[in-house]
Parts: sequence; C-alpha cells; structure tokens
Amino acid sequence: MSRSYFIHTFGCQMNESDSQRMAEALASAGWVPTAAPDRADLVLVNTCSIREKAEDKLYSALGRYRLLKAQRGTRIGVAGCVAQQEKDKLLDRAPFVDFVLGPDHVEKVPQLVETGGVETDFLDTEHYLFPRADPETSRGRATAFVTAMKGCDNVCSFCVVPYTRGREVSRPYAEIVQEVASLIAVGVREVTLIGQNVNSYAGGCSFADLIQRVAAVPGLLRIRFTTSHPMDLSRDLVRCFSDVPQLMPHFHLPVQHGADTVLGRMRRKYTIAEYEERIAALPPRVALTSDIICGFPGESEDEHRQNVEFLRRTPYDNLFSFVYSSRPHTGAMLKLGEWGEVPRPTAIRRLEEVQSLQMARTLRRHRDRIGETVEVLVEEAGFGRARENWTVHFEGDASVGDLVRVRVDSASLVALRGAQVEIVDKAPRREQPPKRRLTVVSA
Ligand code: 5AD
Ligand code: SF4
Repeated sequence: MSRSYFIHTFGCQMNESDSQRMAEALASAGWVPTAAPDRADLVLVNTCSIREKAEDKLYSALGRYRLLKAQRGTRIGVAGCVAQQEKDKLLDRAPFVDFVLGPDHVEKVPQLVETGGVETDFLDTEHYLFPRADPETSRGRATAFVTAMKGCDNVCSFCVVPYTRGREVSRPYAEIVQEVASLIAVGVREVTLIGQNVNSYAGGCSFADLIQRVAAVPGLLRIRFTTSHPMDLSRDLVRCFSDVPQLMPHFHLPVQHGADTVLGRMRRKYTIAEYEERIAALPPRVALTSDIICGFPGESEDEHRQNVEFLRRTPYDNLFSFVYSSRPHTGAMLKLGEWGEVPRPTAIRRLEEVQSLQMARTLRRHRDRIGETVEVLVEEAGFGRARENWTVHFEGDASVGDLVRVRVDSASLVALRGAQVEIVDKAPRREQPPKRRLTVVSA
C-alpha cells in the first residue's frame, strides 16, 4: 500500500510554492496526499521565521504532531525558513523530528524520509537548479505561482530572509517561459512571478523584459509579481504597467517606514523623497500596497508621527503592518542595545494607529466601488480577484478560469460582493480530469 503525506505550510508564496514542489517530489516517489494529518505516514511542516510569532506556530504545531508520532509512528519533517535558521539545533529543541531540510533541498524530501538527518547547506549559487513545477499540480486552477528568482542580497537590518534564503539566484528566462506555457496548457490563466526580491531579477534579461516575454506566451490572461524592493524599481518596469496589457494594475512595494532616520537604521537604501518620486511615476490606476513595521528599535514618538504623516499622504490601496520582532542573525538585533527596544505596549499602540488609519481608507475605497463593474478571474465558484487584486465574491454560474464582469453591490474591509453581469472570456474546456490532486494546507 502506498504511504501518505500531509504538508502543513506557513509563510509566504515562496513557501507555498516550495510545498508544491515537495508534494511533487513525494508523489513521484510513490507517496499519496492525505487531507488529515492523523491519517498520514509523514507530516511535513514547511515553516516561516519572519517574525517570532511565525516561529512559535511551528513549535505548537510540532507539539500536536508529536502525539501522532507517539500513537502511530508518524514520521515528522521540518522544512522552510526555521529549518534553515536553526539547522541541527532544531533537533535539540524537538528531538522527535526525523529530518530537517532547508529551502534549497525541497527535492530531497523522499530521500530524507528514508535516511533522516539534516540538510541545510546552501547550494552553490553558480550551480543552483530551480525545481521544475509539474503542471499537473495546477490542472483545474485559474492561477499559479512561477518562481523567477530566489534569495535576497539586501541587508535590511530587521530581516532574517537573507539568512534563511541565501544569495539571490535568478532562474533563466527560457525555463520560466517554458513553465508558463506548460501551465497554460493545463488551463492556468494567470501567473504570479515570485521571488524575495523579484524586481532585481537577472536571469539573462531584465525583469521588465521577463514580463514582456511571459506576456508573449499565447493564452495567458494575467501576470502579477511579488515582492519588490523600491531601489530596484526600474523605469522599464514602470512602463510595463502601461505597455503590457496582461500585467495587472497592482504593485506591492513595501516602504517599511515613513521616516528617513528609521529607513537609515533599517538599511533600506532610500529616502522617503526617493520612494515618493518612484511611486509618482506609476500610472494612477495602479493599486499600490505596502508593508509597515511599527516599533522598530529606537523609533521615537516623532519618527512614529512622521510615519503616520507619510501614510496619510500616500494613497495606499492596502497595507500590511506588523510590530517589529527581533530576529536572529540580523543587524538590528546586534544594535538593539544601542538603539533601544520600543516597549511592546507602545509598539502595539502605534500599530493600532497605523491600522485604523488604513482600515478606514481601505473600507472607503472598497465602498467607492459599489455600483461599478469589475473584471474578475474566477478562482473558485463565486470567488475571484479583480485586476487590482481586490477579493470579490459574486453570485453567478461562471466556472473556475472564466473571466467575468461583476457588478459590485456591497463592500467590506476585506472584499467586494456583487452579481455576475457577463462572462467576458470562458475558460477553455479541457477534457482530461486532474491526474492527481496535491493537498497543500496553508495557515
Ligand atoms: N519584524 C516585523 N516585521 C517584519 N517583516 C520582515 N521582518 C520583520 C521583523 N523582524 C515584515 C516586513 C516585510 C514583511 C514580509 O514582513 O514588512 O516586508
Ligand atoms: Fe517567511 Fe520570509 Fe521565509 Fe517566506 S521567505 S517563509 S516570509 S521567512
């Protein structure tokens, strides 16, 4: 009888994508997916270490899976960023874990289940080979992630990612284009090009060129990309928003803070004036979203006020804001003593101020859409995304992969609701049923 696996995924799109590659590697070694961890022979936790809370989630999940191991001998593996960060130290804290693998080794899962052990050395940048996605994983889906690059060469002082994901490596554009074509062949209509610092892409052409090449693949309706660093925003990329019809008008360009002094300590390599100059060059219909950190070491009341003022004058469509969390192997952790920790209640109060400002604005913006018609790519029955990445729920009979027009009747903070007006572009019918369904659970 074939053995079954369950993958529990935390973190970003890169982790979701890695979980899919691990599922594919297991499938080709004869493993079958199961939707319930208590029926699995292998539980694999793909972890995130961006903030302490994310890391805590690993250990509470492991607490539950440990019981399964005691009851039924379930094998337990830990992958992703905490695995990379902790390496064999993870086994000191959780000795019942059978194996640990870093993001460079996703394809080795089937071997590691057999041998156990720790595999966390980074592969040599020169010889790094990107795992090829099996298009079958995406059959029957409207949208898919495509890895464009991995790693990050920036030195933002708050961020653990350069440590957990290593140096930047770009994937050759021909491989990307080929993967996009194979996804379209199984019915995918939208791709999101992903990378920790995707706009510094250098896989034989510029990122703007890559977008043009991907747009030229016949049958692709929509392109998105994430995530970007403001310093690597080229004029050519800005031009793509006007020149490439398939590129959706949404840009996630994290600013992190609105005060130059904080940006300096964060080692973000730009000033607010430079950031504002760059976003001013974007076509006005592009929905701009951002990330903000509150309570960064040494953040004074005045710096917080500058942050809030910046946010007031910057019309972000949406904002993801976080309380600073000190991370191992980061510049800010080393400077914590010198810069001074912001007391947690203060950081939370600042976060709440930032969030209430943005929530009011996002709600207003969503409500302004009432009565308008938006174009939605259907991801599940009655659910999809507008061009600007707004979440839309609708009444109507459109199928997954159809492009529909939806009249917006109501709006909340998180979504627009409405009724299907017409199908603009029907998903091509593909007779073949999915060969297999890979289950990737996200949290
Ligand atoms: N503490 C809080 N937020 C962080 N981020 C990254 N590192 C930290 C940290 N140490 C946020 C940044 C980044 C987003 C993915 O997570 O805003 O853009
Ligand atoms: Fe989390 Fe960053 Fe790793 Fe993604 S790359 S899983 S966000 S730590």
